[in-house]
Amino acid sequence: YPVTAPDDISDCVPATSLINNLDDVVRGVACCPPHSPAAFPKPYVLPSFRALRVRSPAHKLTPEYIEKYKAAIAAMKALPDDHPHSWKQQGKIHCAYCNGAYHQQLSENQKVEVKVHFSSIFYPFHRWYLYFYERILGKLIDDPSFALPYWNWDNPMGMMLPAMFEAPGPDNDLRTNPLFDPYRNVSHAAPAIVDLQFDDKERGHPCVDQVSINLCSLHTQMIRTKRTDDFFGCDPNPKVSECGGSIENGAHTAVHRWVGNPRMANHEDLGNFYSAGYDPVFYVHHANVDRMWHIWMGLKGNRNKGPRSTDWKNSSYVFYDENEELVRVYNRDCVDMKRMGYMYEASSIPWKESPP
Ligand code: C2O
Repeated sequence: YPVTAPDDISDCVPATSLINNLDDVVRGVACCPPHSPAAFPKPYVLPSFRALRVRSPAHKLTPEYIEKYKAAIAAMKALPDDHPHSWKQQGKIHCAYCNGAYHQQLSENQKVEVKVHFSSIFYPFHRWYLYFYERILGKLIDDPSFALPYWNWDNPMGMMLPAMFEAPGPDNDLRTNPLFDPYRNVSHAAPAIVDLQFDDKERGHPCVDQVSINLCSLHTQMIRTKRTDDFFGCDPNPKVSECGGSIENGAHTAVHRWVGNPRMANHEDLGNFYSAGYDPVFYVHHANVDRMWHIWMGLKGNRNKGPRSTDWKNSSYVFYDENEELVRVYNRDCVDMKRMGYMYEASSIPWKESPP
């Protein structure tokens, strides 16, 4: 069935699915978007543009670019909470779509939660989410070429949490850095090397070992997934709850767990869907996940192997675009990222040559 967010976004309930400790949530479960009664989503038309936005590896950003990115996040954080572009509202989008705030009527007596994880709509939903987030940030600093950085965790040079997220702000105080988030695992700040198979246990591998373990696991997730379903996960199906693809279940989830704070009841922020969108790291992490989709499609033999079912193509979500227009977007319109107006700066891909 095509996953379909409701036309009336006020048809939305507090999000409680997949949150283990509801009594101790620190980000709140009222995740429904602001909504004016008369507003219904219009079908989205990809706008024309002058130049592609180029997403660069976070560890290679110039100091000027980091300042620009910080300024954009600071501007987002300065918006009133109920503004659809505010940092809170953007964070709530993830909670609404991932923790059961929306429902969809499949038949007269079957109503199911809208879910965007553990199936092949994982990639397109998050592509659209980042797409609007990036355009909103660009608009806030009046820079139509603004592009999100990507956390290049698949390259040895990018396997640490990018330094800008943990650097102190102007008065040498962490809290004045708009990229800082108080709910992270402090022992995973640089120079800790990310563990792309992290499952909440510290392995304590020496750095060199951890780097090669990471490369081998990426090789498995990217190269040994010849079948479309192995990489993307299966078509969304209300009867099958978990059939995510290799990267979603693998490196993607490991990074979420590795960044979230294990001392928080729900491993906020990145360690739980309901809170993940509050940490700016989320979007930079997901830019690399999105890049994995792009790279996989370009690998030898994979060219025409993206998901093709009608359900996949017609699944759709509702977002506020950068003009505060409520729009409905479809998976079928996000397959070609150049048409969407962005691309990834290349970075070497050593996992191609790292079979386990
Ligand atoms: Cu919607 Cu990384 O999760």
